[in-house]
Amino acid sequence: MRVVVSIGGSVLAPDLDPDRVAAHADALERVAADGCEVGVVVGGGGVAREYIETARELGADEVQLDRLGIGTTRLNARLLIAALGDRASLSPAEEYDDAAASLRRGEVSIMGGVTPGQTTDAVAAAFAEAVDADLLVYATSADGVYDVDPNVHENATQYAELTPAELVDIVLPMSRNAGASAPVDLLAAKLIDRAGLRSVVLDGTDPSAIVDAVLRGEHSGTDVVPTGTNEPSYWTGTR
Ligand code: UTP
Repeated sequence: MRVVVSIGGSVLAPDLDPDRVAAHADALERVAADGCEVGVVVGGGGVAREYIETARELGADEVQLDRLGIGTTRLNARLLIAALGDRASLSPAEEYDDAAASLRRGEVSIMGGVTPGQTTDAVAAAFAEAVDADLLVYATSADGVYDVDPNVHENATQYAELTPAELVDIVLPMSRNAGASAPVDLLAAKLIDRAGLRSVVLDGTDPSAIVDAVLRGEHSGTDVVPTGTNEPSYWTGTR
């Protein structure tokens, strides 16, 4: 099975703790050792936000701010590369083709951000589409997709399963409200819909959740399942 895992910066490096990064590297290695091809996209998290806010006060324009954000995603990606050693790509790929080539070499292929005007949510979806991944996992600090922002609404309800088109419909109004935090951003949802990517949104704080989701399809987050698709045969042992 070929999987792309998006690990939020706030999940991998809310602070700089080598044990936390090593635990995520171990989880990815377990998935790879089971026979999966593994691509990873790392986000910027709080560090990105601090850089962006500081540079915004200094008068930087939005593209400059995005470039700072991309820089922090690649710094976080290099932490994961340090933990994985020679099992990972040498450096964060800056192009999807380079990331795909790394995957073909059998490495855990690691990317950060790519281009201004988007987030790593979209990078992960584009990477998954580019390599025809069987599964895309968003390991976030949210524990799934809700009908409304659970940080704002007490009675928000988590979806167990959605279609990609439903995901787009849910994320669309969130993307219009400044400050509302969508678990996956709108561009990513549209790419998931366009490519028909089976996806999972889960709480990645405990990296073993990623292992259970990839190897067995077990998790307490939200499945995004394109209409008319079957479960990956990997999960039913008929591979
Ligand atoms: P993240 O993907 O971490 O953004 O990229 P985020 O959604 O703000 O992070 P979480 O999910 O809340 O932790 C950090 C920043 O880097 C820039 C954007 O400015 C983004 O906000 N970025 C990232 C890009 O401009 N292009 C990319 O391809 C990726």
